Amino acid sequence: MAFTIEVNGKRHEVDVDGDTPLLWVLRDVIGLTGTKFGCGMALCGACTVHIEGVATRSCITPIDSVGTSRITTIEAIGATEAGTRIQKAWLDREVVQCGYCQAGQIMSATALLASNPTPTESEIDYAMSGNICRCGTYVRIREAIKQAAAS
Ligand code: FES
Ligand code: FES
Repeated sequence: MAFTIEVNGKRHEVDVDGDTPLLWVLRDVIGLTGTKFGCGMALCGACTVHIEGVATRSCITPIDSVGTSRITTIEAIGATEAGTRIQKAWLDREVVQCGYCQAGQIMSATALLASNPTPTESEIDYAMSGNICRCGTYVRIREAIKQAAAS
């Protein structure tokens, strides 16, 4: 079945089953491989993208539920105001270790700052609680979000 979706400001026509997860459309059909597969069950956050600015687990989002909503992936997050600040703070704080979880972390952090420019520490922890990092970069993530909020 054909669907037209808007990803990072560009329209894409994709021909897939309606229950195909958005994650696989992004990675395998459109070729945007920055968004990662972790658990496939909305438990790890590696696949997080924005749908209309809201952090969303693309692994459990069927393509037929997306409609005309604007999708943003890690490839374009640097074009947003909050994304620019988050990426700079990530570099300044040297957050990344292996990197596998980090696209999802940045997408969740950016959605948080865009909706709440001055989050408290507990609000940061709550917003980021669904993003798992096997390398344990949580302390640097929290510090980077605080830096981005203050910048
Ligand atoms: S791959 Fe989607 S939450 Fe883990
Ligand atoms: S940086 Fe390795 S899993 Fe998070």
